[in-house]
Amino acid sequence: MTSAAPSKTIFLETFGCQMNELDSELVQDQLSTLGFTFHDSRNSADVVLFNTCSVREQAENKVLSRIGELSVEKADGRDVIIGMLGCLPEREGESLLSKYPSIDFLCGPSELNMLPSLLDNAIQGIALNRADRSALQGNRSRRSAALSAAEDNLELLDLSRSFNPDYLQTKGKSAYVRITRGCNKFCTYCVVPNTRGAEVHRPPDSIIDECKELAETGVIEVTLLGQTVNHYRYTHGVALNADGIEVPQIGPGLTAFKKPVAPSDHVTTFANLLQRIHEEVPELQRIRFVTSYPRDFGDDILTVMRDCQRICNYLHVPAQSGSNRILKLMNRGYTVEEYLEFVDRARAIIPDVEIAGDIIVGFPTETEEDFQATVDLIKHVRFKNNFVFHYSPRPGTVAIDRFEDDVPRDVKRRRLNELLDIGAVISGEVHRAYIGQEIDIFVEKVSSKEHQQKGVELRWEQAKVQLSGRTAGDLICVFDVNQDVAESMVGEIVQVKITESAPLLLKGTLSVAQLAK
Ligand code: 5AD
Ligand code: SF4
Repeated sequence: MTSAAPSKTIFLETFGCQMNELDSELVQDQLSTLGFTFHDSRNSADVVLFNTCSVREQAENKVLSRIGELSVEKADGRDVIIGMLGCLPEREGESLLSKYPSIDFLCGPSELNMLPSLLDNAIQGIALNRADRSALQGNRSRRSAALSAAEDNLELLDLSRSFNPDYLQTKGKSAYVRITRGCNKFCTYCVVPNTRGAEVHRPPDSIIDECKELAETGVIEVTLLGQTVNHYRYTHGVALNADGIEVPQIGPGLTAFKKPVAPSDHVTTFANLLQRIHEEVPELQRIRFVTSYPRDFGDDILTVMRDCQRICNYLHVPAQSGSNRILKLMNRGYTVEEYLEFVDRARAIIPDVEIAGDIIVGFPTETEEDFQATVDLIKHVRFKNNFVFHYSPRPGTVAIDRFEDDVPRDVKRRRLNELLDIGAVISGEVHRAYIGQEIDIFVEKVSSKEHQQKGVELRWEQAKVQLSGRTAGDLICVFDVNQDVAESMVGEIVQVKITESAPLLLKGTLSVAQLAK
């Protein structure tokens, strides 16, 4: 690596999902190891990196406006290197370099191991053509890209993680662990299968090893990541198809290209994986996973969740719509009835499970009747919270080619607000039900500055500080503690008695048992 690297400072801004947050964490580890220093000001860093999201147009516009501002500064003589990482360059391709000449290089989410050399070239000012300034999965086929990832460098980034607890909010006590890359679902509105490639599953032993390494550094909570995390299925050596017949391996973990295989000694299912992590890494106090796909979510997973105390009673299962007609146009592969059957089954097996969802309003052709069906769905399911998005046509998706974006903007907005209003009432009720209970909270951060008592500093009483954390069911909880103990509680699990609630918040006090400790 370049000798110039150690003196360079980097500002890295992350947009989008947890996958991107993890990628940024790994990028930061990787570049710190090479001697770069991370800096929290975009205005003075030598290198500005954006890890981008392409799921909705709004997310892209935000980054492009940042690029616009930096272009002006660059034209004005500022010496800054600009790198764009993640899903936007993967979706848009090398043409971004012509459209935005201030960008020095592009790096897709599956090519992040190429980042040091892209950065090195830019630092050394080597004049390269567009192709050599771009590391993108690009026109390699999804399948060949996934195969080569499985064969050589899939593990590179995840396993080279030199975990750096310092820069994490939770003092390095909580970490993401990727178990699957890519997605094979092809929902018609979604760019992810194009930007993140075909589904590839990591070998279970390497996942367990990473969890153990994290636990050794003090991590007590892991969140397993996959676009359809419950589809995790790793095939060892020989695979069996649904009829029990052996099928040849085409690459480690690449069961996605074959017929479904029957669970056997050759296969590690998601339920097996959860159970193994629970048993083999007892230091982990909380094991979470996102995002679940409502189809193919077997009782085996729910039973493991129920029986393994340290697996959190939380599911994030996007429904996307309550209308069967719209679900079909979205190519979601399930009906409303099947979604509700899953929710009922989950609640029957894990009575205290909390469920969060995602809904898209204003998908092409969505009528008032379709929308009412979605209202009915959210009233029935009673999500602890429900993320609502208005449909955003994305280049490269089936929906943008096949359907006209015909729901007017103001109708989308009205439907979105209506769902948020109904969702807030339901979330309020879900949260209120916790009042009076004593619950374990994983403390994530100090949430606000010192309290002042009606503007007057009380000298005889210790200043209080508000801590913020989460229940196992992923509800956010705040509570006050004395300033002198606040920092020591971050990254710990403490018991809190819930005294108040709001639609997306619990408030409480440290339980007496906790105070006595
Ligand atoms: N428009 C609006 N919302 C989208 N999502 C994904 N693609 C789009 C799109 N084109 C939403 C889905 C998904 C969440 C991560 O983002 O609800 O679950
Ligand atoms: Fe996108 Fe559908 Fe895959 Fe989720 S399951 S990442 S919405 S294609």
